[in-house]
Amino acid sequence: MSASVTIRADQPGATISRNIYGQFAEHLGAGIYEGIWVGEDSKIPNTRGYRNDVVDALKKLKVPVVRWPGGCFADEYHWREGIGPREQRPIKVNTHWGGVEEPNSFGTHEFLDFAELIGADPYVSGNAGSGTAQEMADWVEYITADNNSSLAQLRRKNGREKPWKLPFFGVGNETWGCGGNMRAEYWADLYRHMQTFVKAPRDNRPLKIASGANEADYHWTEVMLAQASKLMDAYSIHFYTRPRHEKWMDKGPGIGFPESEWISTLDHALYMDELVTKHSAIMDKHDPEKRVGLFVDEWGTWYDPTAGREPGFLWQQNTLRDAHVAALTLNVFHRHADRVKMANIAQMVNVLQAMILTDKEKMVLTPTYHLFEMYIPFQDATFLPAEFKAPEYRKGDLAVPAVDVSAARGKDGKIHIALVNTDPNRGATITTKIAGATGKGGVTGRVLTAATIDAHNTFDKPNAVQPAAFKAQRKGDEVIANLPAKSVVVLTLE
Ligand code: AHR
Repeated sequence: MSASVTIRADQPGATISRNIYGQFAEHLGAGIYEGIWVGEDSKIPNTRGYRNDVVDALKKLKVPVVRWPGGCFADEYHWREGIGPREQRPIKVNTHWGGVEEPNSFGTHEFLDFAELIGADPYVSGNAGSGTAQEMADWVEYITADNNSSLAQLRRKNGREKPWKLPFFGVGNETWGCGGNMRAEYWADLYRHMQTFVKAPRDNRPLKIASGANEADYHWTEVMLAQASKLMDAYSIHFYTRPRHEKWMDKGPGIGFPESEWISTLDHALYMDELVTKHSAIMDKHDPEKRVGLFVDEWGTWYDPTAGREPGFLWQQNTLRDAHVAALTLNVFHRHADRVKMANIAQMVNVLQAMILTDKEKMVLTPTYHLFEMYIPFQDATFLPAEFKAPEYRKGDLAVPAVDVSAARGKDGKIHIALVNTDPNRGATITTKIAGATGKGGVTGRVLTAATIDAHNTFDKPNAVQPAAFKAQRKGDEVIANLPAKSVVVLTLE
């Protein structure tokens, strides 16, 4: 198959916020305990309790922002239980995720220290479900106060002299569900109330993020924006990609799936474009200046529980299919860079569409990790529109574009082009013309592909799916690339 693309380097668009490459780390399964935090006394090599292999891998990924502590966990989290001497912290029950013990060893200090360690901005998610406005206000003060208030002194007593920078604070999580089963009308008022007390010194004020809609709940967005847009800096939505998306209880497996579930998963991933378009249209009505950012602060694949694993831990294998979902989804966010200012993939380690999997002292990078690493040049790049008519890839009743394209001018001044071939059976010859191309250098590239649609990395075969060098030809303002079936290529014009 073949496709022709024109990249409009002469019509630059919005900046693609690096925060679109954000991640989400929740107290869920082995996401925090074991995945990030092993404690200072662990035999697993660590720095102040954080496992070194994971920290090193995340540093290489240039993670811009991490959302913590949940998720549904945040809706029951009481921050005071996670400060002070670790051996004195209360042990709680993680009611959402497996009913396991939550030792509170990883609390505010550990999270903010971790974010600093990997060079990411922290995004703290406040408890509007079972917490109070006072508790939320106190948490923000504890983190940011630079005076002699009792909370600032308590922070110092617990080992942190200077306040942390707190760029992002979420008010509520999924308040339509695990965060309180509220109605939009009720939550709009409660949000207005609770956010009033989120205060911080002038030079350290976090952006306030209002918990928003689930998937296509446009009524929620209408009510929230109509009632509270002036009191929020960002509005969040959540969307999870599933192969059998009409059935939540029968989503399909993470590996060993048929081609019909490859295409249905990619089809569902592309639904993100409709969601973002429609939520953005409502936001445009109430916020035409686009002051309020749309944060997709939970997204990623969600499959059936893996046999032999605790269902509440949401552990799933991550395959070439997940890398394609990531590429298509990130390309959607690029196209909506004027409104989508943050996205947080769920989740960082060992949970859902994870970047990294660990097992005791072993660690493996997933295809999604590699995809994110290949896309680093798009962080804070300038979006360049791409005009193309893609051929179709069909299977059964479904058809998706066989080719997807995203381009940007990076902070390095170079043009970067992501090309996706969703068809698992046919290669694609893509001819890309760059209108307004500058520079006459060559083109370098990398490709992510594998022999099977469910190819994945294991502790025994950690490099089954990894990026390889890719050759494309440049002739003047045209680049010709022969993509293998089921592949993602990122090109850089030198
Ligand atoms: O990411 C897992 C869960 O999905 C989160 O805790 C919740 O917010 C969402 O429903």
